[in-house]
Amino acid sequence: MCGIIGAVTKSAIEPVLEGLGRLEYRGYDSSGISILSNNEIQTIKAEGKLSKLKQRLSVQPIDGDCCIGHTRWATHGRANVTNAHPHQCGQVSVVHNGIIENYLNLKQQLIQWGHHFNSSTDSEVIPHLINHYLAQKMRQEEAIEKAISQLKGSYALGILINGASNNLYAIKQDSPLVISQGNSGAYMASDAMALGADSGKVYYPKDNELIKLNANEIKSCSRSINKKIHFINNKQCTKIVSKGDHSSFMEKEIFEQVDLLKRLSVNNHTSEYSIINFKDLNKITIIACGTSYYAASVAKSWFEKYANISVEIDIASEYRYRSPIVMDNELAIFVSQSGETADTLAALRYAKSKKAQTLALVNVVNSSIARESNFTFEIYAGPEIGVASTKAFTCQLAIFYKMALEAAKQRSFLKETELADLSNNFVQLPYIMEKILQRCSAMKKMAKKLSNYKNILFLGRGMLTPIAQEGALKLKEISYIHAEAYAAGELKHGPIALLDEQMPVLVIAPKNTLTDKLLSNIKEVQARNAPLFIIGDKSIKEHINLQDDEFFELPLIPESILPVISVIPMQLLALYSAQTLGKNVDQPRNLAKSVTVE
Ligand code: G6P
Repeated sequence: MCGIIGAVTKSAIEPVLEGLGRLEYRGYDSSGISILSNNEIQTIKAEGKLSKLKQRLSVQPIDGDCCIGHTRWATHGRANVTNAHPHQCGQVSVVHNGIIENYLNLKQQLIQWGHHFNSSTDSEVIPHLINHYLAQKMRQEEAIEKAISQLKGSYALGILINGASNNLYAIKQDSPLVISQGNSGAYMASDAMALGADSGKVYYPKDNELIKLNANEIKSCSRSINKKIHFINNKQCTKIVSKGDHSSFMEKEIFEQVDLLKRLSVNNHTSEYSIINFKDLNKITIIACGTSYYAASVAKSWFEKYANISVEIDIASEYRYRSPIVMDNELAIFVSQSGETADTLAALRYAKSKKAQTLALVNVVNSSIARESNFTFEIYAGPEIGVASTKAFTCQLAIFYKMALEAAKQRSFLKETELADLSNNFVQLPYIMEKILQRCSAMKKMAKKLSNYKNILFLGRGMLTPIAQEGALKLKEISYIHAEAYAAGELKHGPIALLDEQMPVLVIAPKNTLTDKLLSNIKEVQARNAPLFIIGDKSIKEHINLQDDEFFELPLIPESILPVISVIPMQLLALYSAQTLGKNVDQPRNLAKSVTVE
């Protein structure tokens, strides 16, 4: 994955370091910069978070007017300084996001030509190849293009070459890249959010379009043909987001959900979604990864129940290799907070090739998935910094709910009064959520008890099964407690064998049509002496003896909005468990927020 950035401006290191801070969500195994100063490339790298690199730079300050930077999520080679980018060979330094699939063959060839490698990365072959062709007296553009023509895989590259003039080159294939022209400089980055205040205009290059940036101009110069670049206004927020009084971004983002949903529910008309013709649809397929996939699972229930549309859901990495059948009049929806997830983007391209109508549900409106879809709906969550997704999930659900109601209206599946009730539930939603968040201290107690365990099973039923799955995902992502989720009815088909005093079970058991069924599942757990934690209706307590730190009460909640509300205690539980265990909740180990590799 990784984040890349480059700047050609006075004191170029400043926008590069600022941008790396905004790109850390893409990985934080190591970071590094290369800068051209006094006709020499200087490279400084550090293992771990960006703060480590900044420490090194504070004792060894360098500056120049042409700089590239990188923040890494390790794929090939361990997370250490040697494998950190930029990688340099002679007068060429490169930052890379993506994976070079044929790097072993290229490396072998380069070793035969006399090159020596330092790292175990796939990326290091790139500066070696460029340097090889420069040594054969090719011009800079020619050498880069010759090198690129041999790469198989995905890449977005920032390339510094120390030559007669200070040039920075950028080129991409299947990995995101944005170029920007500011008042006092030229920039490139993995995403527009990384660009600072001096980035009013942006340009998204095509695959293998070589861009040259220097102090005087930015030009597209593929195969020696210079083309003028047409910039568009940068819609992305370039303000630095702060966590305010909160202990972490994740905590801030959890508590922000009330206001976000208030804003989304004020305009409770669904007409903006009427550009989709739901009436004539034969099928909807929703494709996503991670948390976004669980939002898709909830949406499936809403579309089926309220609009009588057949919905298939799939994990993007499965869909893209499964030869799925795309029907006539099928709408394929791609859900992605970042809009850059490589598997989701590949799945979108597949669906387009099979002539599906495509719709992107994204938080980042300039993202690749948004740009390549027929329609784009924004979820309006604002920048989400915590790696574990929280507010993006509830905002995705909110938009899906509105879409399902619009679909219900167009297909005349519900009575007017039913539709009005469902709309009204949505208006109530943020207020119920607010009351739950006010009782967060009760969740702290439950988290304290639960964090003594190494494993936990989460159970839910119906629309709450994906919420149990999302709760288990949140907990394992940030607390590293092993958590798995099941549809409660599946317990008896296997997982029940795991139950004993060391295997607690957490059940989401609100008052709804399935409460009685769920109670039987809870009894089955209790009969096996497994510790129980319940987030549910108070009536459960009449049947099961639970201590205060084992029970979190859910008020009576309209069934249609239960998933959106029930995820809140799950998010709090994960947050407080991780904090109890002293983990970094915003930047959990091994994870990255935007996964731009397969
Ligand atoms: C990563 C993140 C998850 C996210 C998933 C999908 O794994 O850590 O939080 O749910 O990617 O990301 P997307 O941006 O496509 O929603």
